[in-house]
Amino acid sequence: MMQARTRRSVARVVGGITTVVLFLSGCGALRDDKGRPLNTLSPKGPQAQRIDDLVRPVFIIAGIVFVFIHVAVVYIAIRYRARDEDPDPVQTHGNPRLEWGWTILPAMVLAILAVFNVQSIWQLEQRDSDAMKVTVVGQQWWWEFRYDTDDDGKPDIITAQQMVVPAGRQIDLQIRSNDVIHSFWIPMLNGKRDAVPGRTQPWSLEADKPGIYQGQCTEFCGLSHGYMRMEVKALSPADFDKWVENQLKGPVEPAADSLEAEGKALVVNRCLSCHQINGLDDKGESTGSDRPVEHYRGADHPLTAANAPNLTHLMSRNHFAGNMFDLYEPGSALKGVEPVGVPKIDNLQRWLQDPHAMKPMAADQNRGMPTLGLSAEEIRKVTSYLVTLK
Ligand code: CUA
Repeated sequence: MMQARTRRSVARVVGGITTVVLFLSGCGALRDDKGRPLNTLSPKGPQAQRIDDLVRPVFIIAGIVFVFIHVAVVYIAIRYRARDEDPDPVQTHGNPRLEWGWTILPAMVLAILAVFNVQSIWQLEQRDSDAMKVTVVGQQWWWEFRYDTDDDGKPDIITAQQMVVPAGRQIDLQIRSNDVIHSFWIPMLNGKRDAVPGRTQPWSLEADKPGIYQGQCTEFCGLSHGYMRMEVKALSPADFDKWVENQLKGPVEPAADSLEAEGKALVVNRCLSCHQINGLDDKGESTGSDRPVEHYRGADHPLTAANAPNLTHLMSRNHFAGNMFDLYEPGSALKGVEPVGVPKIDNLQRWLQDPHAMKPMAADQNRGMPTLGLSAEEIRKVTSYLVTLK
């Protein structure tokens, strides 16, 4: 009969193996609550591929060592278990040759792995000469993306939630934060890089093919950390040029005396002290340029006030509020240059009515969207204008 001690060791080993297997199968299928994959084991670009090429052989070697050791432990525990009639074992001091062996061998394995590791880190830091620069700014609780298409040092496209890039070209990222530490992670395209206040962290990514690649903030950053998602939309180079052309246009101007015009007046009045619509200030006056202004007002200003997503081309994105909520009804074609479909107006209306019911925020501390107390009629006007902002 197996002794209690042996049974316990066997149970521990089996438990350990089960945990590892469950953990790994979970990683492979990690999805957000909309079934969108956040799969780090499915690389879709050269940086992610580089990491995968390192992880797989290391994992296989570590797996073989893991299985060998556990099989040996189980075998020895059963085969040489203590029996009641056994005499006390011979007491020895140890075996210096063996001890040196099992110290040096793992050290050598780790040293060899370190060579490939450092080599990969080095390669991930390299930038192509034609890489496109995008500044990424983490904020509680959404991501902003700034493009400087004419290289004059000022952003001429500012967008949020969705970073649009040309497929097959390296994107040179400058990652920043306006408040606390966040972490930028698009698992199918590269590993993670923290967004740290006061620093600019270099990172890169590249998508081999057009498509949408989901991401998630991976550093706990307060109430809505879990609601801080983003996505990369990779387009063909020709489609990307069309996207840039559209983003450089000013906002759509509603017809005079229309419902949309009344909505615009309300947006100017109630929204533009935090949000931005290119070319307009919060008095409704023209800023004299269709380009966005950098609206972050410095560290002495309340953290996220005056610092909400740029709405100039809101409806060119697929989701809003930390990429959590759909801007279009399901079934809309979302992978082209412009999403085509029926705007999901009820999401925007619910958001305007009670944003805190949809996403935990601390608007009283200038973090997140405040409840504006708009009437149903005002909300109808505001959304009728917002959905024209393609
Ligand atoms: Cu931002 Cu977690």
